[in-house]
Amino acid sequence: MDENQTSAPQPSSISIRVRALSPADAESYRVVRLRALHEQPPAFGSLPEDEPALSEIAARLAESDDRCFFGAFQNDQLIGIVRISRYSAANEKHRAYLGGLYVLPAFRRTGCGRSLVKQALSWATNAQTIRRVNLTVVTQQKAAIDLYRSLGFRIYGTEQETFSKAGRFYDEHLMTLELTSENHHNP
Ligand SMILES: CC(C)(COP(=O)(O)OP(=O)(O)OC[C@H]1O[C@@H](n2cnc3c(N)ncnc32)[C@H](O)[C@@H]1OP(=O)(O)O)[C@@H](O)C(=O)NCCC(=O)NCCS
Repeated sequence: MDENQTSAPQPSSISIRVRALSPADAESYRVVRLRALHEQPPAFGSLPEDEPALSEIAARLAESDDRCFFGAFQNDQLIGIVRISRYSAANEKHRAYLGGLYVLPAFRRTGCGRSLVKQALSWATNAQTIRRVNLTVVTQQKAAIDLYRSLGFRIYGTEQETFSKAGRFYDEHLMTLELTSENHHNP
């Protein structure tokens, strides 16, 4: 039996807490992130060997006005991650990029992914000057695309062959969400 079947808890037994990550979470973040980069079919083009060292990860998890990493926890176990960051150029700071959404397979379909994205959108809403959130998603990742769509994201383009893995090429949808007074994302 695969691990999804053996270890998937029943939805009723799940109690998830989502919070902003800090440098103290660097080690557990790295474990989940590396699982994400080995996802099959691939959900990310980034290579595991290009992941930064623990000290650099800790620095990235430090509090900032321009980015935030969120983690979903069951008890003390980190089971899902996402990050949101403002574009860095002075004339692009009204946009943010949502990336790295991942939930460990055993904990999927329990509302974890939705909670993570909603927290990230709430952060962007509270940042006030952010008007738009963009993301890219591999076209095969139907669960993620459905989740983003259900929160109001729309596909505005598809980039072909953005990365290759094991001899196959993967396309990515470009998705965007305008933050308006109608779709305020406060949890
Ligand atoms: C996408 C992902 C984060 C969703 O996490 P999750 O905790 O299972 O999501 P949730 O339980 O909160 O489900 C939220 C919504 O996502 C969609 N969804 C989740 N799993 C789905 C599936 N297997 N098939 C279709 N839609 C699905 C549904 O719209 C669902 O809403 P519903 O339960 O009301 O139908 C998870 O599947 C994952 O980690 N996938 C691999 C990584 C990935 O693709 N990341 C995106 C990178 S851009």
